[in-house]
Amino acid sequence: MALKKILIAYVSASGATDGIAHRIAADCIAYGAKPSLLDISKNPQVKNYDAVIFGSGIRIGKWHKEGMDWLLSQKDYLVSTPFAVYSVGLKPATDDPNQHKQALSELQTNVDQLAPAKPLAQTVFAGWKNPEGFSKMESLQLKMYPIDYGDYRDWNVIDRWVKEIAPKLFA
Ligand SMILES: Cc1cc2nc3c(=O)[nH]c(=O)nc-3n(C[C@H](O)[C@H](O)[C@H](O)COP(=O)(O)O)c2cc1C
Repeated sequence: MALKKILIAYVSASGATDGIAHRIAADCIAYGAKPSLLDISKNPQVKNYDAVIFGSGIRIGKWHKEGMDWLLSQKDYLVSTPFAVYSVGLKPATDDPNQHKQALSELQTNVDQLAPAKPLAQTVFAGWKNPEGFSKMESLQLKMYPIDYGDYRDWNVIDRWVKEIAPKLFA
């Protein structure tokens, strides 16, 4: 049987989401699929895939604009293609359950814009608070997050999510 072709599309400004997308691609291989990584900011062309996994860093509650623009341009395709989405931000990196709730609610607001396309799975991942990789202005805004500088990406959480969605997306 031919391997399922999975498009791992992502937008990342500082590199946090880039790393997560690469991890998800490696996990897809482990589950017997054939992933193709697509950095949307470089190449928005899309061909035929069996499923799509989209991820974006969050800025003030929103996915990066290139990411949302790309998804909206692919709406017809996504209506008939299994897909999953995730956000990467710092709210899920805090210990505050309200911040987690807010991150999920912001994700939902982004997802709602894709209607009638609806993901089979959606989640939020913790990203990083990194003094490098952000513009001067962004670094100032980053300081407002009440957590220490660091990489909060949890590879076990990411692996578990792929394990959970694999039967839905690759079946
Ligand atoms: C200007 C700015 C706004 C941000 N807004 C949010 C936000 O609304 N929610 C959140 O959870 N994280 C927010 N973050 C944190 C980033 O999403 C986080 O650092 C993430 O790891 C960045 O991933 P990326 O560089 O791959 O886009 C913000 C960061 C910056 C610099």
